[in-house]
Amino acid sequence: MERMEVTETFAGIALPGHLHTQESLGFAAAFTFRPSDVLIATYPKSGTTWMQEILTLLFSLGDARPAKTIPNWERAPWLEQIYCREALRDAETPRLLTTHLPAHVLAPALQRSKAKVIYVARNPKDVAVSFYHFHHLAKFLPDPSSFDAFLTQFLEGTVHYGSWFDHVKGWLGQRHLLDILYVTYEELHQDLRGTAQRLSDFLGCPLAPGTLAALEQHCSFSAMRDNAMANYSLIPAEIMDHSQGRFMRKGVVGDWRSHFSPEQNALFNRRYQEEMGDTELPSQWPM
Ligand code: A3P
Repeated sequence: MERMEVTETFAGIALPGHLHTQESLGFAAAFTFRPSDVLIATYPKSGTTWMQEILTLLFSLGDARPAKTIPNWERAPWLEQIYCREALRDAETPRLLTTHLPAHVLAPALQRSKAKVIYVARNPKDVAVSFYHFHHLAKFLPDPSSFDAFLTQFLEGTVHYGSWFDHVKGWLGQRHLLDILYVTYEELHQDLRGTAQRLSDFLGCPLAPGTLAALEQHCSFSAMRDNAMANYSLIPAEIMDHSQGRFMRKGVVGDWRSHFSPEQNALFNRRYQEEMGDTELPSQWPM
């Protein structure tokens, strides 16, 4: 199947052109956040879809109907994507929003507001593996060729959505400036209930009896893999070629071990140290 070669460049970052225009990106950068807004910010493949599902269940007090009847891109629209303005027209409060944009683009608008931000990060080795596989089905991303070539681009930050290192450091740099909570994909794996409790405390969204059990059930990998409103199977084949793999691929921690050669791992560790060596990381960070 043909690749869609359209790319939009914004703030030095390449983004898929079928979803982003200068107008939609400008809309995001100048967005007027409400104090009740909740923004999920992530680098791709870090647990975005999982967090969208978890917050849907938290806000619905465990009622699975919204998660099962409304596509996630309507429940938690991407601020920078072309349909956002329309998607927010009738949005209920609190509005749940999603972004892959770097912090420096959204920070001015967020700092003027009292909106809450949840930043989800994942071990970058697993992000690289997940992103590589995603490039095979996502026809709006370049052909990834070999894993080695892709990994080089990932470490150089020349992939779509830019550098993982810059993204993470940028959002970590907002810790004293925004009302922001950092969550890792690995924490969600290790203790979904505990993390949901932490989210509910941060959001001031009380947990109704039964919410945690419903959340655990509907936000499990297998439930989300089978939920057409969360697994992107509704996206037409010319945009996502479903014969090339599933969006809900494996959903595990540490899959990098079956992809990285010892040389690739050593290179990655060196680069990680150079980029992240002095960075103050939240506790339970994966590396
Ligand atoms: P893998 O490709 O490693 O399986 P994002 O939503 O940020 O694009 O991230 C997608 C990654 O999160 C994919 O990783 C996907 O399988 C994983 N994921 C989504 N929902 C999950 C869940 N409920 N449990 C575990 N992993 C999940």
